[in-house]
Amino acid sequence: MMKPIIAIDGPAAAGKGTLARRLATTLGLPYLDTGLLYRAVARRVLDAGGDPADAATAEGAARSLRPVDLDRSDLRGPQADAAAASVASIPGVRTALLAFQRDFATSEGAVLDGRDIGTVIFPDAQAKLFVTASLTERARRRWLELQAKGTDADLGTVEEDMRLRDAKDAARAAAPLRAADDAYLLDTSEMDAEAAFQAAMAFVCSRIRIVSMRDL
Ligand code: C5P
Repeated sequence: MMKPIIAIDGPAAAGKGTLARRLATTLGLPYLDTGLLYRAVARRVLDAGGDPADAATAEGAARSLRPVDLDRSDLRGPQADAAAASVASIPGVRTALLAFQRDFATSEGAVLDGRDIGTVIFPDAQAKLFVTASLTERARRRWLELQAKGTDADLGTVEEDMRLRDAKDAARAAAPLRAADDAYLLDTSEMDAEAAFQAAMAFVCSRIRIVSMRDL
């Protein structure tokens, strides 16, 4: 049986990662956080002292990306967030990362989260979810994450950075952040992680035929 591809898109800190990881574990599918690819490209550019908005530099970094680059521990944080959004708006960077994302899901199927999985990377995915939440709630969640990591951050700054990054992701010409026409919209503003998982799982099961877990 064909292995399912589950596409999860949405803005920053909407709960995509937590949800995607749990769906993947439950369904026995590999999971790819595609944001890490853009973050790793950005990190390589920053390490080399380059400008993440420079197309030639960013494309070069994307073409020479190695799997080990995704394992770095410094791919998150305000500087990486902004630099990732810059490299992600460059069409050549997106092209360079396309094959890796498609290959990842070819043999086993996969759950992938990002911004353009259901629209560009896997327009034929069996199940597409667009996970969102209000900006206030998403900023609050990100701020709590930072607090838990011991990073002192200002809630207002976190919210403003997030607003700007989402606006940039939605406004870019290359694969902008948007829900696929056939995506299930999941607004998690008023939901905890468990409720979001139950709602997502019900939708996914309605889209993929699970005869037994061995089919997956
Ligand atoms: O998901 P995450 O917040 O880690 O993504 C970081 C940035 O990478 C996003 O703000 C976006 O600019 C870019 N991205 C993208 N397409 C994806 C995943 C991430 O453009 N599929």
